[in-house]
Amino acid sequence: MNETESREKTERAAVLATETLQKSFRAGSATVPVLTGVSMIFREGLCYTIQGVSGSGKTTLLHLLAGLEDPDSGQVLYRHQDISRFSRKRLAAWRGRAIGLVFQAYHLLPELTALENVNLPAMLFGQRDAKPGWELLKAVGMIHRSHHRPSELSGGEQQRVAIARALRNDPEILIADEPTGNLDEETGMEVIDLLLGLQKSRGKTLILATHDPRLAQRGDRQLVLSGGKLETLERSSVVLSSVPGSPKASSESRLEPESKPSS
Ligand SMILES: Nc1ncnc2c1ncn2[C@@H]1O[C@H](COP(=O)(O)OP(=O)(O)OP(=O)(O)O)[C@@H](O)[C@H]1O
Ligand SMILES: [Mg+2]
Repeated sequence: MNETESREKTERAAVLATETLQKSFRAGSATVPVLTGVSMIFREGLCYTIQGVSGSGKTTLLHLLAGLEDPDSGQVLYRHQDISRFSRKRLAAWRGRAIGLVFQAYHLLPELTALENVNLPAMLFGQRDAKPGWELLKAVGMIHRSHHRPSELSGGEQQRVAIARALRNDPEILIADEPTGNLDEETGMEVIDLLLGLQKSRGKTLILATHDPRLAQRGDRQLVLSGGKLETLERSSVVLSSVPGSPKASSESRLEPESKPSS
């Protein structure tokens, strides 16, 4: 690593952060705590992977980060701005421009072609130019399927289209919830190679929840959600020892203390 790269690494700006985020759900008369104080900083251009057993709250956390749900207490900060202070309209506009979402089940609109699906996020902002959609389909290796509907595409192909759609408004942040969960191992790895390649080449921050320890290992920072808290890999040996084939913490995966934003 040369001096410039080293400096860039230490000076990466915080693009998203959480402050003691808490969220619980009601189950009948009981309250089930899911997140009990998540404080984390997500920095520009890095890939964060989040592991955790089923029900640990990964999807809940990703929804809070994208402003799709409100926390009970605590904050989500986008470049030091508390998103809970945004109006509904501003929140929707922020989400549409700053966040690209990738889901396990793709969530493409069945009546639209691949190209129309990719261009949809821009159309919602009144942009009708189809060219960026073509370019993105090319980038994900799907240009030959531009006019196909989702039902005519394999799962891996649908997820490629969904990744192109997530990038359509050139968001700073990509949030992916088990993007390979519906794919076989080989196809899943191809999709991850694609997603990480685009994330790195375009300088995006990627926050990715996964059950797959080998996939999690590919993050610049590996996090684990356990007991309602988000911890680094090396501090979560109890959880990780129960994850088959999980890697030992390497010096590369160690987090600098990221518990709170400095301002
Ligand atoms: N809308 C809701 N109403 C009530 N309970 C909910 C709701 N959403 C999530 N939960 C509960 O919150 C807990 C965390 O759910 P979440 O979906 O975030 O877990 P997860 O880590 O994403 O699990 P998985 O790995 O299975 O996807 C679970 O116990 C779930 O039942
Ligand atoms: Mg989930």
